[in-house]
Amino acid sequence: MVNKITVVGAGNVGATAAQRVAEKELARQVVLVDIAEGIPQGKGLDQWQSAPIELYDSRVIGTNGYDETEGSEIVIVTAGIARKPGMSRDDLMNTNAGIVKSVSESIARSSPNAIVIVVSNPLDVMCHVAKKATGFPRQRVIGMAGVLDTARYRAFLAEALDVSVRDIQAMVLGGHGDTMVPLISYTTVSGIPVTQLMDRAVLDKIVERTRSGGAEIVSLLKTGSAYYAPSAGAVQMAEAIVQDQKRILPCSAWLEGEYGQSGIFLGVPCKLGRGGVERIIEVDLTPAERVALGRSADSVREPMGKLSI
Ligand code: LAC
Repeated sequence: MVNKITVVGAGNVGATAAQRVAEKELARQVVLVDIAEGIPQGKGLDQWQSAPIELYDSRVIGTNGYDETEGSEIVIVTAGIARKPGMSRDDLMNTNAGIVKSVSESIARSSPNAIVIVVSNPLDVMCHVAKKATGFPRQRVIGMAGVLDTARYRAFLAEALDVSVRDIQAMVLGGHGDTMVPLISYTTVSGIPVTQLMDRAVLDKIVERTRSGGAEIVSLLKTGSAYYAPSAGAVQMAEAIVQDQKRILPCSAWLEGEYGQSGIFLGVPCKLGRGGVERIIEVDLTPAERVALGRSADSVREPMGKLSI
């Protein structure tokens, strides 16, 4: 348990993340911040009142400012607008860049030693904004996307194979967008290569469904985007850090030559512990996967050039 975890943004992703953090007792205090008056306070109070039933002692509070967040060990950034049907994650870029920039500056002032987990979209570009605005080293600015994309992929595989989600090991790398790269060569079911258990055509359909997994939810919800799985992904990363678990999870990390890429956030396997991203692991890729990852990097770099911050 750490002393304080802050969640910025009291929308669906942020509020659900705060609830998960509290229920897992990852921090003594959970601070929910949002500019909307009354919303973080109301949701924080409501969550705290569920503590005697759910039996946790993490104290949840809501606020409109950063004084209460001071000295947070971890800050989860969910602030920004969400997609509506027909919008791509990139359509959110300039609005969310302004929001993430000002949030990041406040975090740097009030919690200079925090590890920041970014969830706002377009994810990989928002990580760049957060890193630049906080001035934090790359170990302490991490994007949540690969855990979510991999969870979707694993859920679809478990369903198709009628096996436990626990036994599906997989990794989805690359940018959090249509070009993401589910690694079939590293997908196993209790160590058995998935290609031995499933037709390639079925597998290809699952890969496609994974790539548009976020859009599938947006088209169903109509007024917003997914939040149960995204919040679970962010909190799994927070838990790995708080408990110093040294878990290997796909996260968006700032690359300095890894996978032939530099000056860009991209989903890669990371070791997460108390120091944040403690190591970026470079795995062998098939020629097709390498090309796909390069293409995914291009699709992150391209909108980055249009950033006006
Ligand atoms: C998704 C959004 C949150 O993938 O990016 O659901």
